[in-house]
Amino acid sequence: MLKDRVFTNDETETWQTVLSTHEKTRRDQVVDIFHSGLKTLDIQANKIPQLWEINDTLEKISGFNGAYVTGLEDGKSFYPMLAKRLFPVGNFIRDKRDLSYTPEPDMIHDLYGHIPFLVNRDYAQFCQKIGETACRFIDDDKKFHQFERFFWFTIEFGLIKTDDGPRAFGAGIASSIGECDFALSFEPEVVDFDIELIINQEFRIDEMQKKLFILESKSQLYGCIDELVNKVKK
Ligand SMILES: [Fe+2]
Repeated sequence: MLKDRVFTNDETETWQTVLSTHEKTRRDQVVDIFHSGLKTLDIQANKIPQLWEINDTLEKISGFNGAYVTGLEDGKSFYPMLAKRLFPVGNFIRDKRDLSYTPEPDMIHDLYGHIPFLVNRDYAQFCQKIGETACRFIDDDKKFHQFERFFWFTIEFGLIKTDDGPRAFGAGIASSIGECDFALSFEPEVVDFDIELIINQEFRIDEMQKKLFILESKSQLYGCIDELVNKVKK
């Protein structure tokens, strides 16, 4: 059982600033399953949740647990964790000078951004399957990197079409005020979801994403693993 973590005043203040600012706009920016996850897990601006409390609820619903890590997980340890329904959560909160961007995933990116999505059973199932499937290619750098690109342009930085217009589907967008504003502006190039294009598309982690892919629906993503494997194998 995880012990209670004590957060510094700076960490609490940064969490409150990011979440309370984002509360004003996120309803019109991020896909529905993010909001229902936040509600189910009772993630709020006024208090940084304890990970064990989150896990208590999350595990009962989707079998996932967050696991504290000290920084960015290498893909070769990240995908095996996903396959076991474990999601790494950076055990720190970004410096308050980096409100909209942090070079390493922290609790705002992981716990506020990723974890709420994992309450949804279909999404959780998909993530586990992506983890298992990527592990099959873990010793082939080229193919493994194609999985990393796929993950990047969907789970991290995907967009999705909805009846109300485009919404952020990726947690990298959902957890960042700056990325939300930028991704939904007219600035990035937005391309229809296409596995072949995605697995051949390079990306940079140190700047706003200038090229994004947009899903027609959640089922388009959840049903695409066989096609992804076929394209990666080619
Ligand atoms: Fe992430």
